[in-house]
Amino acid sequence: MESWIYGVLHRCTHFRDIVHCGLFIGLLLGIWQATALEMSVGKIPFIEAVNGSTVLLPCTYASCIGIKNLYFNWQYDDNGTMEKVCEAVIPNENMEPHVNIFRERVEFVGTSKTSNVSILLWNITFDDEGQYTCYGRNPKEKGRNHSAIFTLIVVDKLRVVDNTLTLIIAAAVGGSIGLLMAFMLLKNFTLYVLAKIEEKNKECLVSSSGIDNTENGLSGSKAGSKTPKKA
Ligand SMILES: *[C@@H]1O[C@H](CO)[C@@H](O)[C@H](O)[C@H]1NC(C)=O
Ligand SMILES: *[C@@H]1O[C@H](CO)[C@@H](O)[C@H](O)[C@H]1NC(C)=O
Ligand SMILES: *[C@@H]1O[C@H](CO)[C@@H](O)[C@H](O)[C@H]1NC(C)=O
Ligand SMILES: *[C@@H]1O[C@H](CO)[C@@H](O)[C@H](O)[C@H]1NC(C)=O
Ligand SMILES: *[C@@H]1O[C@H](CO)[C@@H](O)[C@H](O)[C@H]1NC(C)=O
Repeated sequence: MESWIYGVLHRCTHFRDIVHCGLFIGLLLGIWQATALEMSVGKIPFIEAVNGSTVLLPCTYASCIGIKNLYFNWQYDDNGTMEKVCEAVIPNENMEPHVNIFRERVEFVGTSKTSNVSILLWNITFDDEGQYTCYGRNPKEKGRNHSAIFTLIVVDKLRVVDNTLTLIIAAAVGGSIGLLMAFMLLKNFTLYVLAKIEEKNKECLVSSSGIDNTENGLSGSKAGSKTPKKA
């Protein structure tokens, strides 16, 4: 694979058109970007949980060219110093890692089958609150590394006040959207009725006077074509 790339790059010196080489290198960089190891904690990178409950700290990895001896760990940011929570090496896609755990109440629940390196944090306390970093390094990608941060917020009880506030806001927003829609419907309806009335009036005016065809080309011709029917 790599010798092929070098072969093509070497041929770049023979290309008359340097632009082609630039394009090729750009393409290579694009592929390089696409294959890079990526750790992900999901779309919502935080959780708010009650003191004493058990939470999942989610993390998955992805690499287009696959993994070999992927090293990963979880770290807890203890006021600036990174404290290792657990670590392991995943030999390949089909082998489960043997995970070393350094923190109490931590359980590894991931599986290589789904590229999952999530952990469970049992019976959380307020001291568990903070940022957890999921880090990975893939030797198959020249040791490329990547990490993602998941934040744990520990609360006494899930705030009811916030929920009612959310409800109020939702109701207010919903209500005003409803009002706005009603208003727009009403406005459109009114405009429609007004337009109809105006049309009627014009028709009436035109048909009743029957002479002023030059006032407006359209209404004039319209009136002109209609007048015989009505007459
Ligand atoms: C957290 O929960 C535990 C068990 O429910 C309780 O013993 C402890 O007092 C709680 N801590 C605080 C600060 O509320
Ligand atoms: C965190 O560190 C700062 C300064 O380094 C210190 O003032 C603060 O008390 C520390 N907080 C805790 C919870 O250890
Ligand atoms: C969590 O708390 C429950 C009840 O207090 C206890 O039975 C369980 O062993 C605890 N789990 C861990 C991992 O500490
Ligand atoms: C990872 O594994 C845990 C435990 O089995 C599961 O709850 C979670 O949904 C998995 N995450 C993904 C992204 O598959
Ligand atoms: C991650 O990779 C970068 C280069 O891509 C390197 O400079 C850095 O030291 C690596 N970090 C760790 C923790 O391995």
